[in-house]
Amino acid sequence: MLKVFICIAIVLNILFANPSFSVTPKIKIENKDKYDLGKKLYFDPNLSSDKTVACVNCHIFELGGADDNRVSYGVHNKTGVMNSPSIFNVKFNIAQDWIGKYTTVKDRSKMAFLSKIEMAGNTKDALRYIKSNKTLNDLFKKVYDNFDGDHIFDAIAYYVEHLTTPNSRFDKFLKGDTEALNEDEKKGYKLFKDYGCVSCHNGVNIGGNMYHKFGIFNEDKIKRDDNLGRYKITKKEYDKYVFKVPSLRNVSKTAPYTHNGKFVKLKDVIKNMGKYQLGTEISPKDISLIELFLKTLDGDIPNE
Ligand code: HEC
Ligand code: HEC
Repeated sequence: MLKVFICIAIVLNILFANPSFSVTPKIKIENKDKYDLGKKLYFDPNLSSDKTVACVNCHIFELGGADDNRVSYGVHNKTGVMNSPSIFNVKFNIAQDWIGKYTTVKDRSKMAFLSKIEMAGNTKDALRYIKSNKTLNDLFKKVYDNFDGDHIFDAIAYYVEHLTTPNSRFDKFLKGDTEALNEDEKKGYKLFKDYGCVSCHNGVNIGGNMYHKFGIFNEDKIKRDDNLGRYKITKKEYDKYVFKVPSLRNVSKTAPYTHNGKFVKLKDVIKNMGKYQLGTEISPKDISLIELFLKTLDGDIPNE
């Protein structure tokens, strides 16, 4: 029943919707001190229990704000079960993880800091360290009256929310520069719409604005991990294997892909999106064209 409903929704979307994409906005920095403070903390491994892991370890700028491991490594090389998503443009996502447990960047930052497999931080120790570091202490005092542990995450979140990647060639195209994409990339864009990728990957982040099941079609062929997805939060049967549809901005740099990093090559994901999300086989030629289009979503990486 659900399958039929989703099929109808996808078909209607393809037929009638004017796929809504929008250009990545640049967010103005109103409070430069807070931004600088958040930036310092983002890159500082001293906040972690073994002083080796900072936010940037798993959200690396040159790698599209993600990392290149199937799942990320935290303190003492501990691993979790999730693939690191991009840190860029997160302000425009509906949730700050794959299954929607955290909806604010501040909460997700705090979680990363406290998590035993990520930074295993401790707020008291972090505050002690900050107070012993003149630059950090001065900046904190400048930004907050009577600063406390919570302000660590407030500052980090402020910085992270400003990390957007504007000026991609696709954005220039959306703004009316028809030359910004070449002929093959335009064909790829058309295929992206015609196959129906756009029904899930749309909006300002070309994704990131809804949840969907992985494996709507050919489910019997999937070798699943034991991650039940959004079901873990809602306990609703229809949320089993449902994940946030990821943003495709800068996707050429964020391999490996999907919540558990099981696809290494972008072409493989495109092929499997056809098979499992759209119930169709995409020809190798079309896969290549769609890949060319996806590469036009690379924007300007923020200055570190
Ligand atoms: C050990 C690796 C690791 C470290 C360190 C880490 N993260 Fe993450 N981050 C992840 C993973 C993995 C996820 C996805 C988690 C999930 O879905 O359960 C994630 C998700 C996020 C997201 C949500 C992005 C999205 O679109 O879903 C944000 C924002 C984020 N992290 C910010 C931070 C900040 C800020 C720090 C530092 C305080 C940090 N992370 C430290 C691995 C890491
Ligand atoms: C019905 C919704 C839906 C459709 C249609 C769909 N996707 Fe996806 N896409 C998803 C979901 C959900 C995920 C995450 C799956 C997971 O983590 O297990 C995803 C993941 C991806 C990823 C991995 C991104 C990353 O950072 O890990 C790429 C690339 C992608 N899709 C491209 C496409 C393309 C190209 C098409 C069309 C051929 C398409 N998708 C069609 C829902 C959809």
